[in-house]
Amino acid sequence: MGKVIRLFGLTISCYLFSGWAIAEHIYEKQDPPRELTAEQAANAAANYQKYCTLCHGEDRQGHVNDHAPSLRSKSLFESGVPHSILRPLSYGRQGTAMGGYLDEVGGPMTLDEVWDLTYWLFWQSGAERVKLTENPVQGDIQRGEVVYQQNCASCHGKNGEGVTAPALGNQSALAHNKDEFIRYAIEKGRQGTPMVAFEGKLSEADIDNVTAFIRSKASGWTMEKPVLHALPTPDEYVINPKNTDPDFNLSEGKYVSSEDLFAALEAHKKMILLDTRVTSVWQRAHIEGSIPFPYYSELEDKVTDLPKDVQIVAYCSCPRAAAEYVVEQLNDLGYDKTAVLYEGIFGWMNMGYPVMRAEGAIDDGQTEPEH
Ligand code: HEC
Ligand code: HEC
Repeated sequence: MGKVIRLFGLTISCYLFSGWAIAEHIYEKQDPPRELTAEQAANAAANYQKYCTLCHGEDRQGHVNDHAPSLRSKSLFESGVPHSILRPLSYGRQGTAMGGYLDEVGGPMTLDEVWDLTYWLFWQSGAERVKLTENPVQGDIQRGEVVYQQNCASCHGKNGEGVTAPALGNQSALAHNKDEFIRYAIEKGRQGTPMVAFEGKLSEADIDNVTAFIRSKASGWTMEKPVLHALPTPDEYVINPKNTDPDFNLSEGKYVSSEDLFAALEAHKKMILLDTRVTSVWQRAHIEGSIPFPYYSELEDKVTDLPKDVQIVAYCSCPRAAAEYVVEQLNDLGYDKTAVLYEGIFGWMNMGYPVMRAEGAIDDGQTEPEH
């Protein structure tokens, strides 16, 4: 069995006889990334508070909404800076509640801001970077699947779709995360989260096998750079302004089902649809007629164009966290004809209801935003 050990910059290949299985991965430290000026750090902290706390939590602890991962665990920042932070932050993870925040894809942050936030998170974590190879991890995929189903599927899902933990089979995650990054997470776990370290629980070979199995789920995902839609203007906010109200029967006084919303849209009822996700995901796909009204909007300014007497329906992908957050604030501002789409847009799509999609130019998923 061939093993590669990295130590103080030297790469030593050593061959072990089977049975002599204990060759631990030793990781070389890597220089920390650039430091931020006080101003950049303050700006990054403010951006974190504005855009990220809803799901990742005030203290970067994670798991506040939508099982969003911790953004302070040691192993993530040892192995993941910048790619594994910068890329999901910039482009999002399609099919999950994590949207892209870079302006290039329709998000609210500049390239400088996403870099600074990436480094700010690193410095906040107090981790020291380790050097990982770019080499693929070799392993037995079939054996890896057995290990996966026994040890991982309960949280990550039978098909890597994510249940209470990240979607390991997600194509955008697989495009952005190198094998060694995945392997490192399995070996070391994610401190302060339900993801335990499998070092010592699984053999080195089985950690390789399960990594190879996860990699085998990658199908060559490509990132779409959407052609950005023009945002709707206030005169387009109300759908079917001349028609009657939908008169929804709301469960728990606030939720409308996808079925009822679809029926109301089909019947050309008058309403306002708010898409409360980060604007980049509205750009990718949204319910027709909806307006981007992201959860981080300065609401007092934004509501001036929003009539109070029209039924408002808010939705997100979370499936409800961002929409509920916005609706609560609207209620405080005196809007009482509000509803939240119960199943969220993913539920809506899974039930076969239509969305408007962006026409996207295809780009390869590996591009690093330049800086
Ligand atoms: C609406 C909820 C939500 C918001 C808001 C949100 N995220 Fe996420 N984020 C998620 C979820 C859910 C995942 C995991 C997706 C998956 O892979 O299954 C995630 C994953 C990530 C990851 C990958 C972490 C890992 O361990 O692989 C990073 C980095 C990240 N988010 C950063 C951010 C930053 C920075 C912000 C603010 C600019 C932000 N997120 C805002 C929900 C959110
Ligand atoms: C008890 C539930 C649970 C089990 C079992 C579990 N995980 Fe996890 N795993 C998590 C959670 C939760 C996270 C996200 C942790 C965080 O907040 O950063 C995670 C994170 C990860 C990550 C990092 C993903 C990323 O994008 O940063 C990998 C890789 C991973 N797990 C692989 C595995 C593998 C392989 C197994 C089985 C050998 C496994 N996990 C078993 C809950 C679990």
